[in-house]
Amino acid sequence: MARFAIAYATSEGQTRAVVDHLADALREHGHQVTVDDVASTENAVGSVTAAQAVVVAGSIHGGRMQPRLVRFVSSHGVALSERPSGLLILSMSAASRDAEARARLDAYLSSFLACTPWRPDVVEFVAGALRPGGLGPIRRTLAARLARLVGLPTDTDLDCTDWDGVRRFADALARWFPRVGVPIRAPGDSHRRPDEHA
Ligand SMILES: Cc1cc2nc3c(=O)[nH]c(=O)nc-3n(C[C@H](O)[C@H](O)[C@H](O)COP(=O)(O)O)c2cc1C
Repeated sequence: MARFAIAYATSEGQTRAVVDHLADALREHGHQVTVDDVASTENAVGSVTAAQAVVVAGSIHGGRMQPRLVRFVSSHGVALSERPSGLLILSMSAASRDAEARARLDAYLSSFLACTPWRPDVVEFVAGALRPGGLGPIRRTLAARLARLVGLPTDTDLDCTDWDGVRRFADALARWFPRVGVPIRAPGDSHRRPDEHA
């Protein structure tokens, strides 16, 4: 059992839903998980420093992660680097498989990492959601442009998140901490003791 801290930022709520799903899956693996919005900076920092592994999550708007998330990773890059860590980035570009969308994902990641010494051990790109009805006129226009860009309808709610994929990401993180008591042996060397080497 390990202690995971998930620190996140969300603008319309999808990242919060994704990290809740991730946290539930990690708990099913027997891990303890805290989930903190980085807007509550003290709580988020306290959880990160008490944890054995960290996940940072946020979403892309206008090509960038939330400024408060950028501030968090630039101020606390050392604490993040001291433990195994993952980064989860939600965007609509991740809903597309075309080369331009993939290039945008790389650009989002590079510009985010340029502001921090932290280098996550794993990065997961997750397709997000668009709910135009809940947006003001300017954001709705942007969201429609984006939906068009990735070849999706512009006037309906879209939830493109691969929830099973989020669970698989949790399974991969959980494997960082094998259960206590599982013997670790070098492959092919299981019956030989050190004093049996020539
Ligand atoms: C106004 C607006 C701008 C967005 N800009 C981008 C963008 O530049 N690139 C992209 O891939 N996705 C973009 N998205 C998609 C979001 O990343 C996606 O909706 C995500 O699920 C939002 O997560 P959140 O609800 O946690 O903030 C944008 C969404 C909105 C509403």
